[in-house]
Amino acid sequence: MFELIKDDIDNIKKVVFVTGAGISQESGIPTFRGKDGLWRNHDAMKLATIDAFYNNPKLVWEWYNERRANIFAAKPNPGHRAIAELEKYVKVVVLTQNIDGLHQKAGSSQVLELHGSIIKIKCSVCDFKEETTYEISKVPPLCRCGNILRPDVVWFGESLPQDVWQKAMVLASQCDLMIIVGTSLVVSPANTLPIYAKQNNALLIEINPENTEMSSEMDLIIRNTSAISLPKFVTLFKKN
Ligand code: APR
Repeated sequence: MFELIKDDIDNIKKVVFVTGAGISQESGIPTFRGKDGLWRNHDAMKLATIDAFYNNPKLVWEWYNERRANIFAAKPNPGHRAIAELEKYVKVVVLTQNIDGLHQKAGSSQVLELHGSIIKIKCSVCDFKEETTYEISKVPPLCRCGNILRPDVVWFGESLPQDVWQKAMVLASQCDLMIIVGTSLVVSPANTLPIYAKQNNALLIEINPENTEMSSEMDLIIRNTSAISLPKFVTLFKKN
């Protein structure tokens, strides 16, 4: 599977992972654009928007409550655990588009959440923020200032937290190897991270059962799932 890089392993010191919904698919969390990207016949992409939230905050909160319950019950899978284990051998950073916290649960210590986190909520008006894992029974929840609370995640049309994005670009530009796992690479600016890595002569590996927008840019393509491929990748380092 990783024959192409077997002999280069000793030169790999800094690995950056760019992960998406696909790496959590084997933990039972649906992806956005796959066949399971629907919720009560709503297109997930149409719910994860600021317009959907202001048009129907109750519906969006019902969706997020269901996602929260699903995510809080989910466990990291062998793919998440392999990335965490790799920290024993090289410097690892995870730039994730996921909001499920499974990389951290698996033990990864350097994780940047580009699109926020499902446990975080914030006021749509004042600067109130909170981390919650309890079920939000009355939806939409109200802030003490009287305005509605929202999930502290990045919706379509919103910009990423600037400090997080700046750090992600720098890390992508400094790695020896970038592994792009479980993402269709259709959403920007996360999908520009492989370009920063390539501009700095990093090796690019794509792990995805399907083709992506950037498959042609990759040095190595593993057409398999992350839970199968990533543990195999880590064994390359164990032999050294
Ligand atoms: N292992 C690896 N890859 C997988 C697996 C798996 N077991 N199952 C599915 N995939 C791949 C799919 O082939 C697809 O390319 O994961 C990718 C999931 O793509 P999307 O559903 O588009 O998810 P993602 O790329 O994370 O979306 C990016 O868009 O909706 C927004 O904010 C949301 O963070 C999300 C962003």
